[in-house]
Amino acid sequence: MLANKTIVLGITGSLAAYKAANIASKLTQAGARVEVVMTESATKFITPLTLGSITSRLVVTNLFELTPEFNVPHIALAEAADVVVIAPATASVIAKLAAGISDDMLTCTVLATKAPIIIAPAMSANMFQNPITQDNLAKLNARGFIIVGSAYGRLASGKIGLGRLAEIEKIIGTINQVLGRSSDLAGKRIVVTAGGTQEPIDPVRHIGNRSSGKMGYAMAEAARDRGAEVKLITAPTSLPEPAGVNITHIETATQMKKAVAEATAQADTLIMAAAVADYQPKSIAKAKIKKKTPTLTLELVRTPDILTEVKGDFIRVGFAAESEDVVANARQKLEKKKLDLIVANDITDKDSGFGVDTNKVTIISRDGKVESLPLLTKREVADKILDRVVELLAKR
Ligand code: CTP
Repeated sequence: MLANKTIVLGITGSLAAYKAANIASKLTQAGARVEVVMTESATKFITPLTLGSITSRLVVTNLFELTPEFNVPHIALAEAADVVVIAPATASVIAKLAAGISDDMLTCTVLATKAPIIIAPAMSANMFQNPITQDNLAKLNARGFIIVGSAYGRLASGKIGLGRLAEIEKIIGTINQVLGRSSDLAGKRIVVTAGGTQEPIDPVRHIGNRSSGKMGYAMAEAARDRGAEVKLITAPTSLPEPAGVNITHIETATQMKKAVAEATAQADTLIMAAAVADYQPKSIAKAKIKKKTPTLTLELVRTPDILTEVKGDFIRVGFAAESEDVVANARQKLEKKKLDLIVANDITDKDSGFGVDTNKVTIISRDGKVESLPLLTKREVADKILDRVVELLAKR
């Protein structure tokens, strides 16, 4: 999504300005052309040299300076931008933008652009929560600006509160989402499940599995970046929450079934990447089970099969984690669960399956097409699956 896109990164005078270097670096590494515009106060916190070195572009700070490339830089940048991101955005720049004031390079660029604008505020908790700032943010939001954060955490003053710059992953996730708005899944509603369900035994123990949630999260992010409206239903994982995705947290298979039923009531596609427990304890002990006996027998009963039981007219994509006869077993599951696609992977392969960032899968479709993919990152696998979903959606 970011490759070959022009991103105007506005940096203003907050201590969090140093974090903008990291944002610029991540965007540049992802192939974007990053045009940094700094306010004068931003240059007190971080130098244009740092940003220029990271982006290999001339950093613009002065409204009245002609650059070799641009005649009227703010107009040229405003027109070239695919998206404008102000991170960090101070209370002052937010107030100026809300009032339409354009007295420096950054505010002129924002006022002149037709590109989407993302604002990531960073300031003290009192400044952030001041009704004036909140009114200004609400005004910008109503005008279509996308506000990311602020986050709760340690502030420059040492106090803990709201006002921190949003996590960099969240800012970059939002940029991806905004850039993908008109992509091939624009307007499609996609439900993704992720992670391994946890079936409680007693108040402190559960039966779980080794799913990390990485494949499902990669699916959700890829669908978001291609313009879909994504609902992610996730069992507990240690992964950061993707930005721009509607997230429901669940623990058990039964809770996941209910969440899937609700989410798919209005969906075009369900992608079941979660590793759902097949069995759950017949009853959950109310108190912690003490080790009184040399052996312990748990009676387990079947969980609902979510894919088989969920009702509705949408594309159904399942996963099949297999350790033998991978394609044949996956095909059987596709038939049994009445799926449109099944993504089979051999979990005995060390580069595939649980915990790792890569996956080697075979995509099998209802019409019999079998596509064996090479070893790819989970994100690349997600995009391959979505390519097939796009084809299926086009036929409906
Ligand atoms: N699945 C589901 N509900 C369950 C179990 C699995 O919806 N109770 C979904 C998974 O999310 C996956 C697909 O069904 O998309 C296949 O899961 P898998 O565990 O491979 O198959 P099972 O049906 O559980 O069969 P088995 O464990 O016997 O191989």
